[in-house]
Amino acid sequence: MADRQDVSDIVPLNSQSEIAIERLLDAAFGTDRHGRTAYRIRDGMPWLPELSLATIDADGTLIGTLQSWPVALTLTDGSQIPLIMVGPVAVAPTHQFGGHGRAMMDAVVAAARALRCEPLMMIGDPEYYERFWGFSAQGTSGWNAPGPFEPRRLLGLSVDGSEIGGTGMLSPRIAVTA
Ligand SMILES: CC(C)(COP(=O)(O)OP(=O)(O)OC[C@H]1O[C@@H](n2cnc3c(N)ncnc32)[C@H](O)[C@@H]1OP(=O)(O)O)[C@@H](O)C(=O)NCCC(=O)NCCS
Repeated sequence: MADRQDVSDIVPLNSQSEIAIERLLDAAFGTDRHGRTAYRIRDGMPWLPELSLATIDADGTLIGTLQSWPVALTLTDGSQIPLIMVGPVAVAPTHQFGGHGRAMMDAVVAAARALRCEPLMMIGDPEYYERFWGFSAQGTSGWNAPGPFEPRRLLGLSVDGSEIGGTGMLSPRIAVTA
């Protein structure tokens, strides 16, 4: 458990090396994490630099990561409702429960609100993400995913007042050019 007085900074994730990010994700989620449904939903997408954050300690060591991805709800007619998938959110096991996860999530939700971007979504524990930021499974009951998931853990959060809803399959976002 972390000392709540930990000295740390939140910085853009693209200031960190891919190797350090992957190592931290392995430590938080295990090396078998790549087959998870969340990975399939955003397969092939690059993470969004403006909504992806790192926490570094006083020595500059990476102790937390949060990535966000462009995804979409694909409707039966093939059209897409764009969404932004938040996660994985990971704090190094040695620093968990010290407020770092909350600080990164506070920052990303504030940034998303400032950008008035697409609705946020994630697969995560409502006991954490609903409690602190209001993510909710209300409105996601029509959403399917390319792998197993618990419906109660499929969460959405509107950051611009638009409604969360629709019926379709979550998938990577396809860029449509006019
Ligand atoms: C989940 C995680 C990101 C939380 O970050 P953290 O810095 O460890 O935790 P925080 O200090 O921000 O939050 C602490 C509070 O949230 C609660 N909390 C943390 N994770 C929780 C969870 N999964 N479910 C319910 N509550 C949770 C704690 O009990 C604590 O509550 P309290 O303040 O009432 O005591 C981090 O523990 C982690 O990386 N875990 C492993 C990977 C993971 O499960 N990621 C989430 C899925 S994307």
